[in-house]
Amino acid sequence: MRTLITGGTLVGPLGAAPTDVLVDGETVAALLAPPAALGASARGAAGGGPAASGAGRPAVDADRVIDATGKYVIPGGVDVHTHMELPFGGTAASDTFATGSAAAAWGGTTTIVDFAVQRTGEVVEEGLAAWHAKAEGQCAIDYGFHMIMGGVDEAALKAMDSLVAHEGVTSFKLFMAYPGVFFSDDGQILRAMQRAADSGATIMMHAENGLAIDVLVAQALARGDTDPIHHGLTRPSALEGEATHRASVLAQVAGNPPLYFVHLSASEALGVVSAARAAGRNVFAETCPQYLYLSLEEHLGAPGFEGAKYVASPPLRTNTAPHADDLWRGLRTDDLAVVSTDHCPFCLKEQKELGRGDFSKIPNGIGTVEHRIDLIYQGVVTGKISLQRWVETCATTPARMFGLYPRKGVIAPGSDADIVVYDPNATTTISAATHHMNLDHSAWEGFEIAGKVDTVLSRGSVVVSGGQFSGRAGHGRYVPRGLSQYLR
Ligand code: URP
Ligand code: ZN
Ligand code: ZN
Repeated sequence: MRTLITGGTLVGPLGAAPTDVLVDGETVAALLAPPAALGASARGAAGGGPAASGAGRPAVDADRVIDATGKYVIPGGVDVHTHMELPFGGTAASDTFATGSAAAAWGGTTTIVDFAVQRTGEVVEEGLAAWHAKAEGQCAIDYGFHMIMGGVDEAALKAMDSLVAHEGVTSFKLFMAYPGVFFSDDGQILRAMQRAADSGATIMMHAENGLAIDVLVAQALARGDTDPIHHGLTRPSALEGEATHRASVLAQVAGNPPLYFVHLSASEALGVVSAARAAGRNVFAETCPQYLYLSLEEHLGAPGFEGAKYVASPPLRTNTAPHADDLWRGLRTDDLAVVSTDHCPFCLKEQKELGRGDFSKIPNGIGTVEHRIDLIYQGVVTGKISLQRWVETCATTPARMFGLYPRKGVIAPGSDADIVVYDPNATTTISAATHHMNLDHSAWEGFEIAGKVDTVLSRGSVVVSGGQFSGRAGHGRYVPRGLSQYLR
């Protein structure tokens, strides 16, 4: 099947230009200068055939023509931080790989990298096998895995090498937070970093000082401060900054493995990353839409139990300090290289409700996998980032950061035909009533988006078009990954 996407403006890291895209089967076959004579509507749009003859270009035979006139044509989004079905906080994230990957496709994301889990005492390889079993045959889009290391011991350290060499898992998340759940102490972190420095694997760090936070949480509960806002007040930004600095120093001592800070939320942490990068270190970071748009006061501090919807770690930050402005600046300057979602949805009913009367029992996480491309496009609309940075932070850089490029993250001959046609003239209103995530509320309820995902192709198959989903569970394949392509 040959598909011609015609009339659109192709946006990639090198810029934006009117370009037609020819897809043959599952991959991009060619980028073509648009025929001057093609006009506003693509010829052959209804039934295929010789679709695009015109001045300066021979006719192109295509079975299907997608008219992208007036729209952007961008690489499918790559969301490198999701938690489908994650067991956490006495329950499990409400999106399965089937529902979550379909929702991602609706929102223009065509690859997710989810986190397989090893807990203390568990065998790393068994954790990875369990995640393969959850995802296989379920995904509407392609997927890969990072590995959460919840118990760094001799066997786990060995397993890191084997996962890099044989399983296409080249990144390992460690936690300085969540004592008793995923927490690693500094010695464990150092050892995992040393191993990564040898193999080239990336260490992904959840940087919050979990031991100090636990003290603050116990003190708050003892005072009777049980509402959701205390989740944020007991996890101050200084403790993210401190942990970020400690991790950065440990990585330096360990021989400088690529160190990637996940869900960075605070100015203090960004300052540490900026300094390390200015010193030429292999230090990288992502942020997430919730830290760019939502705040401690307005959202986590909403009346009653409403704030539970916004409980995630790190927490939403105060709007009385310039955290969000600093994060947008970081996205502009590349000190923040990636926007991911940290998609970890829990319904209010029977899940978030577990923490009524005790904020520390509210399962941590927000569901956003469907909205990342739209939400970050608003940064283009408001002039905070350029079109290219939108594409870089949401597709190209995450693909390069995690060894998926140029198969993913770019529209170029030979790349997988993961393509989004994005309509900047249409609008989207986000609501739990219309979203596709398996979630009974939306942290983004009522958000008005200037722009809309129009058509989505995953490896050449149309999975979303004209407001209809035509994807299927099982179309998505596991994608083994290489090492980070930002190694110095
Ligand atoms: O609140 C969050 N972020 N939940 C998911 C687990 C994690 O730390 O990424
Ligand atoms: Zn985390
Ligand atoms: Zn996460």
